[in-house]
Amino acid sequence: MERLDKRLVGTGNWSRKEAKDLAKSGRVTVNGQTVRQSDVKVEKTDLIAVDGNPIEAAGPVYLMLHKPAGLVSATEDAREKTVLSLLPERYQKLGLFPAGRLDKDTEGLLLMTNDGALAHRLLAPKSHVDKVYYVEVDGVLNQEDCAAVESGMTLEDGYTCLPGHLEVQGNGHSGYITLHEGKYHQIKRMMAARGKPVVYLKRLKFGPLELDTQLGKGGWRALTEEEISALFRQ
Ligand code: URA
Repeated sequence: MERLDKRLVGTGNWSRKEAKDLAKSGRVTVNGQTVRQSDVKVEKTDLIAVDGNPIEAAGPVYLMLHKPAGLVSATEDAREKTVLSLLPERYQKLGLFPAGRLDKDTEGLLLMTNDGALAHRLLAPKSHVDKVYYVEVDGVLNQEDCAAVESGMTLEDGYTCLPGHLEVQGNGHSGYITLHEGKYHQIKRMMAARGKPVVYLKRLKFGPLELDTQLGKGGWRALTEEEISALFRQ
């Protein structure tokens, strides 16, 4: 069973608000009966029609987004601009959401999808999906920092991270970090625990997905068939 408005929104033709108004105005039928409440539950097998025309569900959508700094990883927010606002309206109506969060000031790869089952699986702690970040710090990263990340650091709240990997770049002000989990502000808290606060953070990889270098900040594209298959094999 799922809500009538969800079925209507899932076609990609209407927003949730529009779906509600459609029903209210008596244009929606379920198995031939007019239904004015958009929050009623319907069965998968129920025949939904708008103005007498049966609706068809749009398939699941998988997009890669290059998140710029300054936007929140959410679908709606009372004060802040969200990553969803970067997508054209036809996608906004498909119920897309970011699979995972990047902080407001973090840039980089975000998977946007309306496939709740896949997102749930990828984000489950036991999935251990690898994430690779480029990080710049105030300080100089050294071999002790690498060893600390490799051994599983304990953060200020007592949480012990899974062992990760840090590869220091050039003069030590930057590096690449690989994590197999995704705790709140994890890299910032790890670097803070090393006394080297993060000044810039960008996600380059999420599981099998790599940020497309052709995508400028705020750019997006549909995933290829191969990328989608790789996500399902994850
Ligand atoms: N770690 C952080 O601290 N922030 C992010 O956005 C992602 C990982």
